[in-house]
Amino acid sequence: MWPYPKIVAHRGGGTLAPENTIAGLRAGLAYGFHAVEFDVMLSKDGIGVVVHDPEFGRTIFGQGRVADHTAAELARMDAGRWLKPEFRGEPVPLFLEFVDYCKAHRIWMNIEIKPSEGQEATTGRWVAQTTRLRFAAEVAVGDPAQLPLLSSFSMEALAAARDAAPDVPRACLFDQLPGNWAHIASELGAVAIHTNHKHLSPATARAVKEAGFGLFCYTVNEPKRGREILGWGVDGFCTDRIDLIAPTFA
Ligand code: G3P
Ligand code: MG
Repeated sequence: MWPYPKIVAHRGGGTLAPENTIAGLRAGLAYGFHAVEFDVMLSKDGIGVVVHDPEFGRTIFGQGRVADHTAAELARMDAGRWLKPEFRGEPVPLFLEFVDYCKAHRIWMNIEIKPSEGQEATTGRWVAQTTRLRFAAEVAVGDPAQLPLLSSFSMEALAAARDAAPDVPRACLFDQLPGNWAHIASELGAVAIHTNHKHLSPATARAVKEAGFGLFCYTVNEPKRGREILGWGVDGFCTDRIDLIAPTFA
């Protein structure tokens, strides 16, 4: 039902390093994490880059939009100095660079497809196809634990991912579960529901589990809350506080 790690570092290394960077993965490893959630968006030239916001200004230094710059341009930009001076110059990672680092260090991946506006299907397709190619050997083995899990708030992106690479597992991401969540998840061939723990109730958690889906929450930063939702049957969650919640927490 949930063949993946239960405690996952959010956006690379949570709050301990600039989000969605290789420095974040290093921070996660330093705390014993071999599981990561990160966000993928397409560049102007259709290459996946690891970033959360479609606009520069918060994590990428400067002004502009991810979708208006090529992958080569984005890879030269600074995604580290916003957090601390010591991270100055930390680049925006290319998707494949990030994936290869994870594979080399045996870090399991929850790959969140984060399309910029109008790029939903294109992004879902690109991420699924590229992941499928990189994990061809693991797909052939057929053990889900060896595969990343794709997720997205965009059902259009997930549908494109399903059509492009049906054998790469998918999860539906909802801030709050809509009434027809089970229908949507079945249509998309999803294996799991990912949702905001703030809107989850024990009854909803039970319904998701009884319907046969994995249940994963974002973003849990207090150990007490983590204990509570695990008690409701939640399979796992991601956290920004990798210093407070250990990979062995569950
Ligand atoms: O994938 C879980 C979580 O990352 C979703 O929200 O905005 O942090 O990408 P966000
Ligand atoms: Mg995310």
